[in-house]
Amino acid sequence: MSNRATHDVWNGQSGADWAEHQPDLDLLLGQSMRRLAALLPLAPGRQVLEIGSGAGSFSLALAHAVAPGGRVLGLDVSEPLLRLARARAEGRGDLAFAKCDIQTDALDAAGFDICAAHVGMMFFSDPVVALTRLRRRLTSGGVIVFNGWAARGNPWFSLPLGVAERHLGPLPSPPLGETPPPGPLAFADVTYVTGLLRQAGYRQVEGWQETIAIRHPGGLDALMQTLAYVGPISTLYRLKQPGAAQKAHIAGEIREAFSAFVDAGGGIDMPGTMAFYRAVAP
Ligand SMILES: C[S@@+](CC[C@H](N)C(=O)[O-])C[C@H]1O[C@@H](n2cnc3c(N)ncnc32)[C@H](O)[C@@H]1O
Repeated sequence: MSNRATHDVWNGQSGADWAEHQPDLDLLLGQSMRRLAALLPLAPGRQVLEIGSGAGSFSLALAHAVAPGGRVLGLDVSEPLLRLARARAEGRGDLAFAKCDIQTDALDAAGFDICAAHVGMMFFSDPVVALTRLRRRLTSGGVIVFNGWAARGNPWFSLPLGVAERHLGPLPSPPLGETPPPGPLAFADVTYVTGLLRQAGYRQVEGWQETIAIRHPGGLDALMQTLAYVGPISTLYRLKQPGAAQKAHIAGEIREAFSAFVDAGGGIDMPGTMAFYRAVAP
């Protein structure tokens, strides 16, 4: 089963958006990255594989955490994001990025102690195949840790999506009981994803939800440049193709709704809800 559609998305507008807004996204998702890193058994010398490494921010943090003697390999399918990640890692011998979809492409490297993914694991059409192939790249006792967005408790995407749906019609959702399609919400359901991990042969499988803070000192301007266009609203825009004037109108309404999350210092402070997963390769 191919991931062609997902690759096209991340080599198109989504990849360009994430590359352009990398510093803002790093700030907004900073607490999510720190929380995920805290769940990893990081120590000097550890060998780490990151899936969906994007612009490389999490990989860079991991490379610092496993120095000296450690190594990080980031895998992604997006040319613009890989280009940016490689430029940011230039001169480092302990950090590399490769174009690879673990579900469908061969990967020679193995013997990893840790596999991590920061909102980067939910883009596979056959997640059990992808997770099984990842398990084979881990040492016995190696851990896999990743997170994804929960379906509820995320005003940063439910609020823009709600405004856009009022103008453009609803974002089609998969019928209940069907496998969620690859995308930002595909790994929202803890029961479903822990089941995938068990099917893929992992032990000590855990999954849980946590509320994190999404913050940006730049306030509404910074938020509107980024979060109004990432997440499920980007899928709706791709499907409905609104014109520039309609998008501008929608953006105005989104900005107004987001003003509820401006703090006393003019920054943004809003809750986000994520599902976290951890499992061990036997
Ligand atoms: C939401 S972004 C997260 C990027 C990065 N981890 C971060 O937190 O900034 C998802 C990333 O997964 C990558 N991706 C999507 N499908 C993939 C696949 N099948 N294999 C590897 N990476 C994929 C995208 O190109 C993108 O960089």
